[in-house]
Amino acid sequence: MTSFTRIPDEERPTISVDPQQIIATIEDNTYGGFTEHMGRCIYGGIYDPGNPLSDENGFRKDVIEAMKELKVPVVRYPGGNFVATYHWLDGVGPREKRPKRQELAWVNVESNQFGTDEFLQWCELVGTEPFFALNFGTGTLDEALGWVEYCNSSADTYYANLRRQNGREKPYNVKYWALGNEMWGPWQVGQMTKEAYAERAYQWAKALKLLDPSLKLILCGKEGPTSWDSYVIKECIRFDLHGLGGSTTASLIDMHSIHIYTASGDHLKNVTAPRSAERAIQITAGLIDLARIENKVPTTVPRQKICFDEWNVWDPARAPGEEGAEEAYTLSDALAVAVWLNVFVRQAEYIGMANIAQSVNVISPLMTTAEGVHKQPPWWPLLLFSRYMRGKALSVGVKCGEYQGATHPEWIRGAIETPWLDVSAALGDDGVVSLAVVNITEDKAIETELRGIPAGAKVEVHRVSGNGVLERHAEVSTSEITWPESHAYEFPAASLTLLRYKP
Ligand code: AHR
Repeated sequence: MTSFTRIPDEERPTISVDPQQIIATIEDNTYGGFTEHMGRCIYGGIYDPGNPLSDENGFRKDVIEAMKELKVPVVRYPGGNFVATYHWLDGVGPREKRPKRQELAWVNVESNQFGTDEFLQWCELVGTEPFFALNFGTGTLDEALGWVEYCNSSADTYYANLRRQNGREKPYNVKYWALGNEMWGPWQVGQMTKEAYAERAYQWAKALKLLDPSLKLILCGKEGPTSWDSYVIKECIRFDLHGLGGSTTASLIDMHSIHIYTASGDHLKNVTAPRSAERAIQITAGLIDLARIENKVPTTVPRQKICFDEWNVWDPARAPGEEGAEEAYTLSDALAVAVWLNVFVRQAEYIGMANIAQSVNVISPLMTTAEGVHKQPPWWPLLLFSRYMRGKALSVGVKCGEYQGATHPEWIRGAIETPWLDVSAALGDDGVVSLAVVNITEDKAIETELRGIPAGAKVEVHRVSGNGVLERHAEVSTSEITWPESHAYEFPAASLTLLRYKP
């Protein structure tokens, strides 16, 4: 439990951390990525044949290095909306025979020069796990089963042999598979009602698990607190021995996916918007528990977690998807991303995976040019969290003032608080505590009493800050201090501070 007590702005805030108060394990997959056939994410992003910065496969080496630096544990592919008209067979086999297709999500011509084998080889080079989304728009169950067989089967069967024929003997063992993407959306090819989706998802899940019981299947949700989520969770998270070989410790659905993008040109609305995701996680977790209770799912079946497989700061009006969604980020956006990441740490109990959308060029902290990569302001909080905020999430007590103005979305006000100091803490496997504090104010340094750090302890300080929240620039610094007897620490305005110490 992380608790917040509002006090008047004039009073001195306190933050209390106790390394014994463990909330949950932070899944490594919280720091996942997402690469879609959209804009310059694949072509010109991770795949750029002919560029001197690419390897013999056409993979950009500087992008691979950046992914390694971020220690991205899992990457979702090939969409997104793109997947609703994607036929995976178009993207395997000899390149010269692959068909060019009109794709309908971003209204582009898809060359299919990059497909399943290329993506899976790229994942091996990066050292990350693949996560595939299935085509629930124009795709069929047969096609989906064929894809799983192609990727995972070691049998003497048609698609496993096709993989061998294409040069890959060993199965890839792709574990994570999403049952469609945003099938509720009016923009989606093959948009469905929640009833039609739940029916189809359940039947596909049964067949997929019969083919490969090791798969982890992800149900397509919306934003969490919606009747779509409530309905599909209730219909699909149930106890059914069919398809599971009679196992009482497994279920057809392993995670429920939700997507939220936040953004506002107003700094305080921008940085408090991710709090809507926090409330959405809590509500979705409640819906999952409710379904398990009402559907009498035995406690031997692990509780389904949330797969937050698209999140980020994105305003489609300023960076339209059809134009490649190349967001130009500010310090304010970097701080919003830091609050997003605090949300995932605080709600670690419910998060099985989260994927920033996206990993390169498209709504991304990482941009490529023909000459190299450029790291936008949100890169720095992402790097610091991925590097240090792993292990166990710790309970934190925060007493400070609160932003009380308008929020985006409006419903945040009344549903969840918006403190000036947004805080989370993690206890690493090395016994080091990492405390992440975002001072969301634009111009007010906040002196705080910090309880839990021993006086005299050496504290490593990582900081992301800048010269104005609307500047497209952020600085990152690292220093070391000796913790003072007074336990007083000042968090600069508009900054993320990550304090690391041995308790
Ligand atoms: O990430 C960009 C798009 O946003 C994805 O394709 C879609 O799933 C979402 O609406």
